[in-house]
Amino acid sequence: MNRVELRNISKSFGGIAALKNVTLKVIPGEIHALIGENGAGKSTLMKILSGAYTKDYGQIFIDGKEVQIKNTHDSKKLGIGIIYQEFSLVPGLSVAENVFLNQLDTTGFWMKWGKMKMNAEALINSIGFSINPSLKVGDLSIAQQQIVEIAKALSENVRVLILDEPSAVLGPQEIQKLFDTLKKLKKESVAIIYISHHLSEVFQIADRITVLKDGTSSGSFPVSETDRDSIIKLMLGRSLDAMYPFRETIIGEEVLKVVGIHVAEKVKGVSLSIKEGEIVGIAGLVGSGRSETVRAIFAADKRKQGKIFLYGKELQLRSPRKAVSKGIGMVPEDRKQHGVILSLTVKENISLTNFKGITDHFGFINVKKERNNTIELIRRLAIKTENEDQEAGKLSGGNQQKVSLAKWLNRDCRVLLIDEPTRGVDIGAKVEIYNLINELSQKGVAIVVISSETSELMGICDRIVVMHKGQVQGELAKKEYSEENILRMSIGEVENATSGQLTS
Ligand SMILES: Nc1ncnc2c1ncn2[C@@H]1O[C@H](COP(=O)(O)OP(=O)(O)OP(=O)(O)O)[C@@H](O)[C@H]1O
Ligand SMILES: [Mg+2]
Repeated sequence: MNRVELRNISKSFGGIAALKNVTLKVIPGEIHALIGENGAGKSTLMKILSGAYTKDYGQIFIDGKEVQIKNTHDSKKLGIGIIYQEFSLVPGLSVAENVFLNQLDTTGFWMKWGKMKMNAEALINSIGFSINPSLKVGDLSIAQQQIVEIAKALSENVRVLILDEPSAVLGPQEIQKLFDTLKKLKKESVAIIYISHHLSEVFQIADRITVLKDGTSSGSFPVSETDRDSIIKLMLGRSLDAMYPFRETIIGEEVLKVVGIHVAEKVKGVSLSIKEGEIVGIAGLVGSGRSETVRAIFAADKRKQGKIFLYGKELQLRSPRKAVSKGIGMVPEDRKQHGVILSLTVKENISLTNFKGITDHFGFINVKKERNNTIELIRRLAIKTENEDQEAGKLSGGNQQKVSLAKWLNRDCRVLLIDEPTRGVDIGAKVEIYNLINELSQKGVAIVVISSETSELMGICDRIVVMHKGQVQGELAKKEYSEENILRMSIGEVENATSGQLTS
């Protein structure tokens, strides 16, 4: 019998249909992948099941019985746990308090602090991680926050577990641990719905796949009876020729040189050099100091030591605004906090004309050209929005990501630092983002890309710097690229491609 059956679910926002007659069936002990382009309706469908949104039409059955889910309390009572795409943690509370936050309204009182801490720690350990339960969630890395989210969803006896892009902020090792947890839950007959844009993950972990396209279901398929290309075709309505576009590299003089950067505890003497037209990747495990390094270059984090040179001239950057005025741009990892202003429109976010404070220092931007570019970028990145005047907060998660990226692709930078360029975006938009990065590099922009997806780094970068524990562990040239080489350097096993057995 189906654990969950969603029958003919429809939902509109302000007259625009996000879901049209969607049906989805999930059986106990199954991992069911829900996939589709950005804006296809995946999160909306799951929010209806979790009670965060109410449906306009349709029926919900749990274990064959029709149920009414009017709010999140109803869904919790039915044993439905959800890990939202946007985090739902309270940054000012401790890890332990966050894990047991939901239990407050069911029992009406808090657990004793000591017990709560112990239980939270045990729960986090049981899924293969260790995080101090007394720490404030706001002080954790995003990957750690995601682990707290997972623990929180498991803190009650779940019979249905929904994960909305849980892996987007996790590194490869954490993803494997998450998969181990899911396999355990599967054995306990939990019905799992897994949303992801990573088809390799989907094919690794899922039993069945349902594809949503433009708010309707394109069908459900057992993983064993389908393949990547057919799924991409259903998702996009076309096939993809090449994931990574061909690129002619014209490398010029050195643009950015970074010497011996230190950031408290996290970065211990990193030096880098990037030339005009070059795309340099930074690989490394979560916590290796990659983001902190680029944030320090951008003056978003304070560095303790180190020098930064632009075209051979030392820069004294005291704020991101200063960095921007020198032609250094950064697309941050944590876009919810630093990337998109949800209350502004898509156009305002992309075209910096309304971005007061920064634009004031921006003598060299051509305002009119930028405005036209905005429309062009919405089209090229296929940002799913009613029009350019839609509030960014109303877009789907992946479309918000595209907006934050578009904002930076739209300006004249000499150096662009991009942290996880394609996190959360669908496969069609990914290719378009690679094309845009290529075009910028062909214009001579020096580009640094951080990515947890090694295949992405290998696909678009001219060379890859690998970080380990706050230092540069080594560097790989194109001919030395392999998943294995990058991984072995990331874990600190080898120092360069020619040491040990690294070169095959
Ligand atoms: N609160 C809202 N107000 C208005 N429109 C909304 C709201 N939430 C979602 N939408 C719209 O509903 C559609 C489906 O969005 P949804 O978030 O379900 O997409 P998704 O498949 O989860 O995409 P992604 O992969 O980008 O997360 C989008 O067009 C989105 O703009
Ligand atoms: Mg979503």
